[in-house]
Amino acid sequence: MLNSALTWRSVLSLRVSSRLSAQGTRQISQVPLKNLNEDFECEGPCMRTEVPGPKSKALQKQLGEMQSVMSVNFFCDYEKSRGNYLVDVDGNRMLDVYTQIASIPIGYNHPALIKVMMNPQNMSTLVNRSALGMLPPKEFTGKLGEGLLSVAPKGLSRVQTMACGSCSNENAYKSIFIWYRTKQRGHSDPTPEESTTSVINQAPGCPDLSILSFMGGFHGRTLGCLATTHTKAIQKLDVPSFDWPIAPFPRLRYPLEQYERENAQEESRCLEEVEDLITKWALKGKPVAGIVIEPIQAEGGDNHASPEFFRKLRGITKKHGCAFLVDEVQTGGGATGKFWAHEHWGLGDPADIVSFSKKMLTGGFYYKDSFQPDKPMRIFNTWMGDHTRNVLLSEVLRVIKTENLLEEVKQSGKVMLQGLYELQEKYPHLLSKARGLGTFCAIDVKDEDTRNKLIIKARNKGVVLGGCGDRSIRFRPALVFKRHHTHLFLNIFNEALAEFK
Ligand SMILES: Cc1ncc(COP(=O)(O)O)c(C=O)c1O
Repeated sequence: MLNSALTWRSVLSLRVSSRLSAQGTRQISQVPLKNLNEDFECEGPCMRTEVPGPKSKALQKQLGEMQSVMSVNFFCDYEKSRGNYLVDVDGNRMLDVYTQIASIPIGYNHPALIKVMMNPQNMSTLVNRSALGMLPPKEFTGKLGEGLLSVAPKGLSRVQTMACGSCSNENAYKSIFIWYRTKQRGHSDPTPEESTTSVINQAPGCPDLSILSFMGGFHGRTLGCLATTHTKAIQKLDVPSFDWPIAPFPRLRYPLEQYERENAQEESRCLEEVEDLITKWALKGKPVAGIVIEPIQAEGGDNHASPEFFRKLRGITKKHGCAFLVDEVQTGGGATGKFWAHEHWGLGDPADIVSFSKKMLTGGFYYKDSFQPDKPMRIFNTWMGDHTRNVLLSEVLRVIKTENLLEEVKQSGKVMLQGLYELQEKYPHLLSKARGLGTFCAIDVKDEDTRNKLIIKARNKGVVLGGCGDRSIRFRPALVFKRHHTHLFLNIFNEALAEFK
């Protein structure tokens, strides 16, 4: 493994040359790429074709006759992928710093997970997908206890699994509305009028309540979630929506430590706006039942806010009797160096609901007792998640603990952010605003077109990256992305940048 004292720059200077061997394997001279005992993966990227290569293109053409392929990047060979390396159908092996849109917790084909899947005792779970809300398997309660509930955020004693991130938020919103109306009525029994009007989408059964969200936030693409998603027009165009309040999210200056005063002013402005909107929507007859927010706006461009901002926002929700929903779909599961990103805030009063998906393998949400509906089928669907994922998650959590991966994330994150600072200094005409927590990092590129070209250039050099916002690149490696992977990534990213004038 690389000596942790080495920066990626000293790695660069140690390199006699970064060269491609006869097989196309990138080698960094004089520096061992990894501790062989440490993982089961291979020695760096190995590129054979441009990506997408001919096999990917042929498959894309075939699939294009069956469905839209406009968002497909390339086809993967998951059997050959290992650890931090994603292999495509053309035999290209790439260091994956995007991990299926931030959703691979401990790398590809982790031996511990393969073992779980090979265990005959888990066979019936795999073969018989159960309707968890109605006919859960006998192991279900135990697995929730040793898995999801073992990492429950402070103050949240209950958990509901769901299929995906949107599905989790959608049902979290419903739980908030049910909680709010129950509170207003003083009990949960509807009047006959409420029951009959609810079936035909009319008040009072379907009340005019709202969820306040933030500009630049992303909470999913189902109808309710989409009303709180404010990133790109393409995600919303032509779809009817709710008239719900949208508050400005702070647009901070980076590095945060350098602009504390200006940033605090910007945050105060946004918080004032939140309170104004709550008042306005109450007057409109559409009271705000809940506020939803990401700890770091991810799809929207990796926008940060300070712990104080979030603590004050929590205070506002309390003052106005709105629920506080923290969407940890992208930030949750360890990438920020804490298991939940909102643990960085030091909240006195816990969130009411925390939603998750991606690295947690299953979607779902944690909630306080008071958010549990008192009637069946109010928060319900056929699968209510997938128990196979709960079985795998227990093992993922064991690996995170035994391999001390949150500490590793902090170490790799330091190297990554330092490397990004150095790169933005070296390429000021291209890069700005390096930022991040743990390995959950991002950097801005001068414009959208250059950002997109840079991502493709890096991919053809063996690093998979993803964009976010108008012109940011987000880095979303797995939790097994160690310091030596970070050095390797920074070297290749540097090479890609050097090719832009
Ligand atoms: C913060 C956040 N919330 C919700 C979602 C929606 O999750 P899904 O795509 O699984 O529906 C995403 C997806 O990227 C997300 O980043």
